[in-house]
Amino acid sequence: MAKKLWGGRFDKETDPLVEKFTRSIQFDHKLAWYDVFGSLFHVDILTQSRYLTQAESTSLADELLKIGKEIQEGVFKEDPNCEDIHTNIQNILENKLGEVALKLHMARSRNDQVVFATKMYCKNTMKNLQTNIEELVLSIDKLLVENDGIIMPGFTHMQHAQPVYLKDYLGTYKKMLLRDAARLEYISINMKITMGAGALAGTPISSEEYSKNVNKIIEELQKNPDWEETSKFMKDFKVESTTNSLDAVSDRDFVIEIISALAIVAMHLSRLSEDLIIWSTQEFDFVEIDEAFCTGSSLMPQKKNPDVLELVRGYAGRLNGNLVSVLTMMKGLPLTYNRDMQLDKEPLFNSFEIVSMELRVLAGLIKTLKFNEPKIEEYLKDESLYATDLVYYLVDRKVPFKQAHTIIGELIKYSITSGKKIKEMSGEKIKEFSDSLNKEEIIKLFDPKKSVESKLSIKR
Ligand code: ARG
Repeated sequence: MAKKLWGGRFDKETDPLVEKFTRSIQFDHKLAWYDVFGSLFHVDILTQSRYLTQAESTSLADELLKIGKEIQEGVFKEDPNCEDIHTNIQNILENKLGEVALKLHMARSRNDQVVFATKMYCKNTMKNLQTNIEELVLSIDKLLVENDGIIMPGFTHMQHAQPVYLKDYLGTYKKMLLRDAARLEYISINMKITMGAGALAGTPISSEEYSKNVNKIIEELQKNPDWEETSKFMKDFKVESTTNSLDAVSDRDFVIEIISALAIVAMHLSRLSEDLIIWSTQEFDFVEIDEAFCTGSSLMPQKKNPDVLELVRGYAGRLNGNLVSVLTMMKGLPLTYNRDMQLDKEPLFNSFEIVSMELRVLAGLIKTLKFNEPKIEEYLKDESLYATDLVYYLVDRKVPFKQAHTIIGELIKYSITSGKKIKEMSGEKIKEFSDSLNKEEIIKLFDPKKSVESKLSIKR
């Protein structure tokens, strides 16, 4: 049984099943590096407040940096018997340094520690995710340039609507991703990382001490070549003293905001996937997905399936579930810290992991898409795609819009029921629908390029 951070008031050993049930090390080991960072800050504060001598401070900081290096190098192995990663790191320090390590927990509680480490993890992971988003945006950009002139049928309700540029259609996903990036950035900037809450009521160390000393360590670490790379993300990183210690330990808004922003990213990626799944069907045949991004069937030898895209679509459900689970977990909690809150981490980590993986796999898939231009052009022969342009034509000839809408509606209906294209009808027949319809002129409107270029409201 691993040593606990508590126990003085207990006579009995904890039930083994309770040990297992309450443990979070199996997932919060991901916070190890951030916990070490928090401890380095704390050592600094205790030293400035004279709870630690300079010598004690140095030995604690050295040992913490050693653990941090092991974590960075991937050789740190968490102890699965510890209650959580915070206990694990404290136990290592106690085993290595003995009594001096017992002083480290002065004026701190895991309630504050866990928030600090989780916020730091979020800040770093959101920064990495921004890079993943940028990569996907770049690969969409490449696709847009390669397929610059392609015009395709635009859809509403999945029905033929009006011609649009393929670059505008796919550019929509770029816009969504840029909004996602901005949303994450906003959350990151607004997430205040604080120290000094203690368990809930604050600590005997003054807020001035926290504010004064807490950021020094960042500068020191940035000067240390071993940590230069890893502490880069801390350039704009700022720790503040808490202004409401109860709020500091009981707030999980940042988790909810992040997993909701991630659920939005996943929803966007799911829509993109759905479009590509439909476009890659034999029925549509707009696009070919590269074999490297498809899988086959164990029974039907001819199959080349878009499983990657289907999983992206499927995972969007998981992301929603993660959000709902944390919202539901939080809604009934009285202030301040309650153990329920330990359960915010798996949904948070899981949402980050899924979205990061999706962004990376889609960046590769998108880059290799091949559009079937002749097939897309084939669909543009559908005259109904230009019905709105015919309405605008009549409006330009002083026919009121609603009347023009009805006239063209009747013309299209006749075309469908008679099985005759408008192009095949005689000029006289067309005039029966409206005197203002001149066949020579209107057939020129069945032109994809003319149609898209006549839409002047788009600022390109
Ligand atoms: N592993 C815990 C969590 O993630 C740490 C906090 C435990 N605090 C306590 N007072 N029991 O929430």
